[in-house]
Amino acid sequence: MSKLTVEGVGTFEVPESKRLVNALIDEARVDQLHACGGNARCTTCRVQFLAGEPERMTVAEKEVLTLRGLIGQAGLRLSCQIVCDHDMEVRCISRLAGSGRADAGKRPEEHVTPQPVWTNK
Ligand code: FES
Repeated sequence: MSKLTVEGVGTFEVPESKRLVNALIDEARVDQLHACGGNARCTTCRVQFLAGEPERMTVAEKEVLTLRGLIGQAGLRLSCQIVCDHDMEVRCISRLAGSGRADAGKRPEEHVTPQPVWTNK
């Protein structure tokens, strides 16, 4: 179990290696957007890390953050490409409320998709 702290929401125990996006939905009960269903395409699952930002990153995350011009922004990461394998603290910056979207997106798979290839951030 690792701990997930969401700024302004609380601190939660998360099952080992659960995807961060699903922990935000299930444990923290945040209306986190995930428009592409957790496939590293939309970037709506973005969060701002306040502590515990992982050093490793999937190649898919790196590619889409680079494409969108977001790669240089300190602490900005895609929650669908991160597993909760250590304590972390995030700020939710992309939520359904106020987005104008009809829903948050299709439920992401339990495992990281696409099949992760890991690199360093
Ligand atoms: S990039 Fe679309 S849900 Fe993560």
